Amino acid sequence: MQRVFSGIQPTGIPHLGNYLGAIRSWVTLQETYDSFYCLVDLHSITMPWEPEKLRQQTLVTAACLLACGLNPDRLYNQSAVSTHARLGWIFNCVSRLGWLNRMTQFKDKAGKNRENHSAGLYVYPNLMAADILAFHATHVPVGDDQRQHIELANDIAQKFNHDMGVEFFPQIQGLIPPHAARVMNLRDGQKKMSKSDPSEQSRIILTDKEDDITLKIKRAKTDSEPLPGEVEGLKDRHEARNLITIYASLSDKTPEAVLQEFGGNGFGQFKKALTDLLIEKIVPIAQETERLLSHEDHIISLLRKGAETASTVSEPIVSEAERLVGFLR
Ligand code: TYM
Repeated sequence: MQRVFSGIQPTGIPHLGNYLGAIRSWVTLQETYDSFYCLVDLHSITMPWEPEKLRQQTLVTAACLLACGLNPDRLYNQSAVSTHARLGWIFNCVSRLGWLNRMTQFKDKAGKNRENHSAGLYVYPNLMAADILAFHATHVPVGDDQRQHIELANDIAQKFNHDMGVEFFPQIQGLIPPHAARVMNLRDGQKKMSKSDPSEQSRIILTDKEDDITLKIKRAKTDSEPLPGEVEGLKDRHEARNLITIYASLSDKTPEAVLQEFGGNGFGQFKKALTDLLIEKIVPIAQETERLLSHEDHIISLLRKGAETASTVSEPIVSEAERLVGFLR
């Protein structure tokens, strides 16, 4: 059976971009693939962090994922399974500086002040490759922003195989959804929806209540033109395109079909329908998350069990990689 692996940083409450770009397909894929999903806390300390906040956000993220329907047996936090860091170190020594220098996400996150960022942020993609390959996973469901990291993981796997003269690590395939692979910021349609944007109005989060959703969609930026009847009419209308994509993705329709329904009208009627749809899809997740969070110990014990399974599966793979490298065992 082919294996799926994916991860999310517990750096904040998961938002609609995480949901439509990744989490929703994780829930579907676990039906047909042997799947592992990981709260990548080792990745979360590549940027400045507060320990108590990290602990709390890991619990909230776990609760959100469980509320979305993820299998509790296959969910765990990365730092509890040592194979990630062990293979990550080997990959630090396989990957090339030239490859890392091309990573656009590092450039975006580090900005102008490169010198003052952690070394961890720079080698982050090597650890991400290790996350996937420690499980010999072949399919990785992610949003569009992870495309370059998947390519790098394949380069690392290939170089390892070539240097050790083996066919050990498999080729990885990113599974990127056809729509909503890049959900944009509600206040600025040219920026990605992200956990780190200072404005809470810029994103719908999976713990939002009815009132939050209503207000955020009411305030979501639009333009003064009526909605077009066809997708071509959305070109250069970033905010309108984003809202239509969100609606289409949540209702499992194509953007074309959504525009057939709402094209020719202003945003009023459409925003009302979008608000209702978001409330229908997100509020039950928020309620279940809240219920789960009232039993923190239960979440912790589920994660521990998930970590045991993840260790059992990844340990022989990483031990073999260590043996191939020449470590005495
Ligand atoms: P992270 O935590 O930033 O995001 C988790 C998942 O959500 C997707 N995503 C989005 N999709 C659509 N629109 C958006 N605005 C949006 N924002 C985020 C991301 O593409 C991702 O799939 N490096 C990864 C975590 C990671 C990982 C891995 C993923 C670590 N190891 C191994 C896959 C396999 C990250 O920072 O995701």
